[in-house]
Amino acid sequence: MFEELNRIAAMPDGQATTLPGRYYTDPAIYDREIADVLELGWHCVGAVGELPDVGDYLTLTLLGEPLIVVRSDDETVRVLSNVCRHRGMQVAEGAGNAAAFACPYHAWSYRNDGRLAAIPYVDDPWFDSSACALPTIACEVWNGFIYVNLSVDPKALVPQLSGLAVELANFESETFAYAHTGEEVWDTNWKCVIENFIEGYHLSVVHPSSLHHLTPTRLAKIGPSDEAFTSFWSYFPDDLPSRGPGAQGLVAENRQRSLLWVMFPTQLVSQNASFLASLNVFPEGVARTRIRWTVSAHPKCSDELIQGAVDMWDTVNEEDRVQLERLQVSLDSRAARNHAGPLVDEDKEGTIHRFHRHLASRLS
Ligand code: FES
Ligand SMILES: [Fe+2]
Repeated sequence: MFEELNRIAAMPDGQATTLPGRYYTDPAIYDREIADVLELGWHCVGAVGELPDVGDYLTLTLLGEPLIVVRSDDETVRVLSNVCRHRGMQVAEGAGNAAAFACPYHAWSYRNDGRLAAIPYVDDPWFDSSACALPTIACEVWNGFIYVNLSVDPKALVPQLSGLAVELANFESETFAYAHTGEEVWDTNWKCVIENFIEGYHLSVVHPSSLHHLTPTRLAKIGPSDEAFTSFWSYFPDDLPSRGPGAQGLVAENRQRSLLWVMFPTQLVSQNASFLASLNVFPEGVARTRIRWTVSAHPKCSDELIQGAVDMWDTVNEEDRVQLERLQVSLDSRAARNHAGPLVDEDKEGTIHRFHRHLASRLS
């Protein structure tokens, strides 16, 4: 199933091709990606700043698993299974603040660390109620983001991110304040979303009014990569006025560029002096992807600057969605199914090749 992927992954940098179209449309390939890439990976589910107070929670579904992300009474961020231990109902929905979660079916209620607190109408249960806690899912916090891993005993995330941390230290992104969350569903394969975000080639073509004047295609440059991520730098033209405040110790070059990266497999991030945007990608089917995106800002950014950044991401996401939904249709054509087109060069599309190498390392 993956001979073509392996052959492409072995191509030299700068002279590689895309994956054939069927890699984005074949349900059997998608099922293998779920089992060997996605269920084993760490996924960003949101920003820590979305849950500032004890009891704050949000719910989401990651690869078919309903989850509650909550700041528990001891102030730690936890991820709980959102599936009642009685007869399997989803316990919580939406987002909000709660001292406990009451199941809507028979009102079993759970504390915000998952422990079962009450079983209405049952005075003396025959079963061990202490064994009926909502299961805890592996969770780590890094750089202002919350990460989840569905596997039972995953390799710790943070030690894998030292290479990325070096690139980011200068931006002081952990001091950025959470500002906005958006959510949308795109009718496209999850890998199309990843590849689109991490290549600078389409910027001037797909985003002529929203991005071309800020980050034109001609200034895209391949960035650092390692086992955990790959990236490109999106340089601003010299005549562009300052992009806002930024960290005090920020080196001059980092005032004039954004770093765009994918943390494998599904977090897409753009970091510049003033803004940190994360598109958290949730595959929901071979041709359906949910995107939960957040924007955080340097603490000195004005409300007006922040609103401008949020509006820009809204526009850019819509422009990308239109193209990727159109792409998904043609990738399923006889013309594309077995065709691998050339990636043009390292600076513009080299990150796509690196992403394919990552996939090959998991799927082979
Ligand atoms: S399913 Fe939750 S209380 Fe019955
Ligand atoms: Fe784009």
